[in-house]
Amino acid sequence: MRKKVTVVGAGNVGANCALRIADKELADVVLVDVIEGVPQGKGLDLLQSGPVQGYDVMLTGANDYEPTANSDIAILTAGFPRKPGMSRDDLLLANYDVVRTATEQLARYSPNCILIVVTNPLDAMAQAAYWVSKFSKNRVVGMAGVLDSARFRTFIAQELKVSVENVTAVVMGGHGDTMVPLVRLSGVSGIPLTELMDQPTIDRIVDRTRNGGAEIVKYLKTGSAYYAPSAAAVEMAESILKDKKKVLPCAAYLEGEYGIHGLFVGVPVKLGARGIEQIYEIKLTGEEQAMLKKSANSVQESVDILKKK
Ligand code: 2OP
Repeated sequence: MRKKVTVVGAGNVGANCALRIADKELADVVLVDVIEGVPQGKGLDLLQSGPVQGYDVMLTGANDYEPTANSDIAILTAGFPRKPGMSRDDLLLANYDVVRTATEQLARYSPNCILIVVTNPLDAMAQAAYWVSKFSKNRVVGMAGVLDSARFRTFIAQELKVSVENVTAVVMGGHGDTMVPLVRLSGVSGIPLTELMDQPTIDRIVDRTRNGGAEIVKYLKTGSAYYAPSAAAVEMAESILKDKKKVLPCAAYLEGEYGIHGLFVGVPVKLGARGIEQIYEIKLTGEEQAMLKKSANSVQESVDILKKK
């Protein structure tokens, strides 16, 4: 039997997640959105691409969660996007309501699914989904590190004029301006980045990575990025659906790892059929640990606001 993925939110991120899942023939997809007709229309349009693209998956749209029953994975993309000048945290309370409502329904209809949270502010929304679903911590994971490290890898490859495939990069911490691109652990085919670039170039690239989302919001004006975010979410879904056990930077619920307690923060994890199958606690330098702590503190501030709700 084919796997089943629910994508909540039929906006740009959600629709592109559905498209990528279909193109990779990973699973049947149910697109859910509150706007009448949009998930149904996009679902049908995507379904009709099947004969051309050569995929045999079912794509449907709905305004309620009954058709999503027994999904293997739910990707939560619904929410208000960032406008120019807005920080991800400005979205906090508005998107909390969206994530809470969706998670209640997902947990009801697909009590065994794995939740991939994409809605911003990412780490706080992952925390909200974890609270509301009451799922075990391995079944709630946030998408951010894959996107942030993809941006870091892109800029490194561009600068060095090498294949993106040879570039590895590690970005930890919250998905925000305090994210922690780990230069020491990034490189090209095993060659450390510090051997390939001078410090001012590295600093410039790190800065551009931290502001990678805002750079796109500034161009688009009416919304935020969606091609790379959907690619990142689907890489995570694929690793889970195929039990590939990819090691990817994702927001995970930490209980003491890196000295962080009871909080979703981006760290390297192994993603397989059981969701987060392992959290890697790597040795950080004092400076890296301090940056991670600062980033975790900023996530904690958002989570504290939610706790009062
Ligand atoms: C981004 O970084 C929207 O947070 C998303 O592009």
